[in-house]
Amino acid sequence: MCGIIGFVSSENTKAAVLIEGLKKLEYRGYDSCGIALVHNQEMALYKTKGKVKVLEDKLDKSLEGTSGLAHTRWATHGEPNDVNAHPHQIERVTLVHNGIIENSHELRKFYEMQGVTFKTETDTEVACAVLNDCMNKTNNKIEAIQKACTILKGSYAFGIFFDDELDKIYAIRKDSPLLLGEGKNIVFLASDCSAFLETTNRVLELNENEIAILDVTGITIIDEEGNEVKRESKEATLSLEEIQKDGYDTFLMKEIHEEPMVIKKTFHHYMKKSLNDLNETMPSLKKYKRFIFVGCGSAYHAGMIAKTLMEQKARVISSTELASEFRYSNPILDDDTAVVFISQSGETADTLAALRMCNEKGIDTFAIVNVLGSSLAKEAKVFLPTLAGKEISVATTKAYCSQVAVLSLLCLKKAMEENKLSREEKLAIENEIERLPLLMKKYINQTSVEKIADTIQHHNHVFFLGRGLDYALSLEGSLKLKEISYIHSEAYAAGELKHGTISLIEKDTPVITCITNPDLVLKSISNTKEVETRGAKVFLLIREDLYSNLMDASAVILLPKVHDVLQGIVSILPYQLLAYTVAKKLGCDIDQPRNLAKSVTVE
Ligand code: F6R
Repeated sequence: MCGIIGFVSSENTKAAVLIEGLKKLEYRGYDSCGIALVHNQEMALYKTKGKVKVLEDKLDKSLEGTSGLAHTRWATHGEPNDVNAHPHQIERVTLVHNGIIENSHELRKFYEMQGVTFKTETDTEVACAVLNDCMNKTNNKIEAIQKACTILKGSYAFGIFFDDELDKIYAIRKDSPLLLGEGKNIVFLASDCSAFLETTNRVLELNENEIAILDVTGITIIDEEGNEVKRESKEATLSLEEIQKDGYDTFLMKEIHEEPMVIKKTFHHYMKKSLNDLNETMPSLKKYKRFIFVGCGSAYHAGMIAKTLMEQKARVISSTELASEFRYSNPILDDDTAVVFISQSGETADTLAALRMCNEKGIDTFAIVNVLGSSLAKEAKVFLPTLAGKEISVATTKAYCSQVAVLSLLCLKKAMEENKLSREEKLAIENEIERLPLLMKKYINQTSVEKIADTIQHHNHVFFLGRGLDYALSLEGSLKLKEISYIHSEAYAAGELKHGTISLIEKDTPVITCITNPDLVLKSISNTKEVETRGAKVFLLIREDLYSNLMDASAVILLPKVHDVLQGIVSILPYQLLAYTVAKKLGCDIDQPRNLAKSVTVE
């Protein structure tokens, strides 16, 4: 949530360096934005509601400075408007903030009683007041920042200007990401290195509670004890190509087309030649009698697939938990339990808090995460990367697919350890894994979802039905449609609809049923008939070998038949294409849907 970029340069630099940086960070929040630019030792603030483009259009193109801080916001405290946009300023301190100050309410009251008048409703302005107060008391910037951070509860990455030293930026972080960049005559701080990659690919990490000082001589890092830390910059793992659309109209479409390559890369990382390689690339799972899969949103849906596979293939008790519930549920955990956390960003607040809770209890934690170096990746006992590369579209596609791939392998490893996988089945799965990327590529290029999209775009409510793994797919398909097309939809376990929700079915209500399990075809078809009888317009997503033309439907999309362990990976593709196609027809902002942000670092 929220993106930060700042720079200090020994020469006058166009404000465009901040604007372009903010555009790269917009996936983190995009309801308002602002910059503080220092020119000839004078600071000017420019803030606006809306996206970075709105700010860009308001700014004089020739605007330049020698240092600057910029911010793109996902509002937590205070509606998105010009005033609540960052940077915020109180007397000696100007700052930008990513995170949330949980005790801002009490602190605001305290400072109001001291005579401070707040101009905004934000928690960030309160942090400004705290730091300004600490600065007034100590007159030492490092001490003031350290003291302020003992008072502020919550998460933060701060970029800070002090009014008597506008050629320096101070930075500190806790539970929110912040990286540093070293270029020629210019240094940066940013929530993610994509923001400064066009200028430099030399990156330095900033650990929690260290303070970075950026000035014309470079970057100085100070540890908690006040000692200088020597740290060399490294080459960024991200390339410029990865953050460009590459001819596609949206990042979402680009990322859907990258799925075959991502799946190939991910499987190849864990198994060079055969499933036996999992013995080297994943730790032993022999001691575990129970698995709990934890995540939020799509990551939770990936966990639902894992639960089904772990129980079906390895016959080991498993469950899936929403991180936001799990962390407060006082769960019963023991040494035989492995808790597997799933996250694209590796920074999701609830998932991270749930992981920390398990770590504190001494429970074995696994993290299936896409962003290397993220908090989840660092703090879990076992880190299993997904290899989706940078995902920019707010709605996840390729990272989700890659999560399902790693989870499938985890389940297969456990199944092998439990002697539940025959030699023949192992061989069959290995062969299927080999042909999967090409099959997915063909499928993406050849599948048309136009007919369903044409109908759905005119409706306010859509239902998705499925059983077992198909229910998990329906949940993910429904989430994709909701978040990027704003059409309300609900996914139901196909047998459950008649226990209440079927009352919502009326003439022409679109219902999309997914069928990939041969044992449940008749059951799912019966459930589909029940809604059709009540007027629903039925669409079928069905595995090609299970379809018969006796099945009534307004349109049918055939799914390729693959081994059931891999079925979830291919079967999500038409749902992703459908959400994209509907959103496109409705003219929605596909990569940056309203109210959302890619990395949810607040509770
Ligand atoms: C949906 C989506 C979200 C995320 C969720 C968890 O398309 O992207 O539901 O899956 O916010 O985020 P991560 O995976 O970063 O923990």
